[in-house]
Amino acid sequence: MPTGLRARDAARDAGRRLRGSGAPEPEASAEVLLSELLGVGRGELSLHGQPLSDGQARLYAGWIERRANREPVQRIVGRAYFRNLVLGLNEETLIPRPDTESVVDAALELLDERGGEGVVLDVGTGSGAIAISIAQERPRATVHATDFSARALEAAKENATENGASVRFHRADLFAGLTILERGVDLLVSNPPYIEAEAVEKLAPEVRYWDPRPALDGGPDGLLFYRRVFEEAPPLLRDGAGVVLEVGDGQGEAVLGLGKDAGFVPLGLREDLAGTPRAALLRWGR
Ligand SMILES: C[S@@+](CC[C@H](N)C(=O)[O-])C[C@H]1O[C@@H](n2cnc3c(N)ncnc32)[C@H](O)[C@@H]1O
Repeated sequence: MPTGLRARDAARDAGRRLRGSGAPEPEASAEVLLSELLGVGRGELSLHGQPLSDGQARLYAGWIERRANREPVQRIVGRAYFRNLVLGLNEETLIPRPDTESVVDAALELLDERGGEGVVLDVGTGSGAIAISIAQERPRATVHATDFSARALEAAKENATENGASVRFHRADLFAGLTILERGVDLLVSNPPYIEAEAVEKLAPEVRYWDPRPALDGGPDGLLFYRRVFEEAPPLLRDGAGVVLEVGDGQGEAVLGLGKDAGFVPLGLREDLAGTPRAALLRWGR
C-alpha cells in the first residue's frame, strides 16, 4: 500500500485488491477495516482528509492481505459487534452472528413472562454474546454461562467485565457438575453446534478455517447437541422452565419434535431478521 494516500483512495485501492482475491464484499471489507484502523465511522472515511501515516499504511496493507486470505474482518480486528456489545474474540470463540440476536429476543420474551427475573443458563457461551446481552438487558436476572473451552471462557469473562455485566461462568461439558443449579434454572438458552459433520468441510473459508470446529460440528445429522440437551438438562430445570435453542436452517421442527419426545412442551419457532426460523422455544414440565 503506497504511503501518503488519503483514506478514500486507500480504501478504493484495497477494495480492488480484495476484489481480485475473490473475497466476498470486497469494498465493504476494505472500508470497515480502514474505519476500524482509523477509529472513525465508515461513513466518515471520505471526510477523513489526513493522509495515512507510514505505520497506518503498513498495518492496513497487512490487514488487507489477511482478508485476501479469507480471514474474517472480526478476527483481524479482534472484536465483533452484537446487539449493544463490543465483544473481544480469540481462536476458540465463534464470531457471534446477527442471527443469534433473534435468539436473545426470544429468550427475553420468555424471561419477561417472569417479570425479567429468574435464573438463566446459557450453554456453550463462546464469546459470551447471549449471556452478557441478557445480563445487561435484564439486570434483575441471575445469569450463568458454560463452555467446555477454557480459552472461550477467558474471552467471555473479559467481555462481561468490559461490558459491565454480571455473569457467573462455569467450565463444563454441557451440564456436567453444575450441581449448584439443580432444579434452579428458569430459562435455558443455547446456540449449540448444529452443522452436520460432513457439511463443515463445505462451509465458506471464513467459517471453515477460522471458526473453531467444536463450535460448529453438531454430529452426523447436526442434531447431536439437541438430543443431549433434552436428555441432560431436566435435573437442572425448575418446573415450567423455558428453553430457547438456536436452530440451523430447516432444523426447527425436528428440534421441537426431539424435545416433545423427551417430555418438553413445544411452544413454537421464532424467525430471525431474514425470516428464517432460528429459535425453537419449549417449556419443561407444564
Ligand atoms: C455455536 S457456538 C455458540 C457460541 C455463542 N453462544 C454464540 O452464540 O456466539 C457453540 C459453543 O458451544 C461450545 N461447546 C461445544 N461443545 C460443548 C460441550 N460439550 N459443552 C460445553 N460447551 C460446548 C463451543 O466451545 C462454542 O463456544
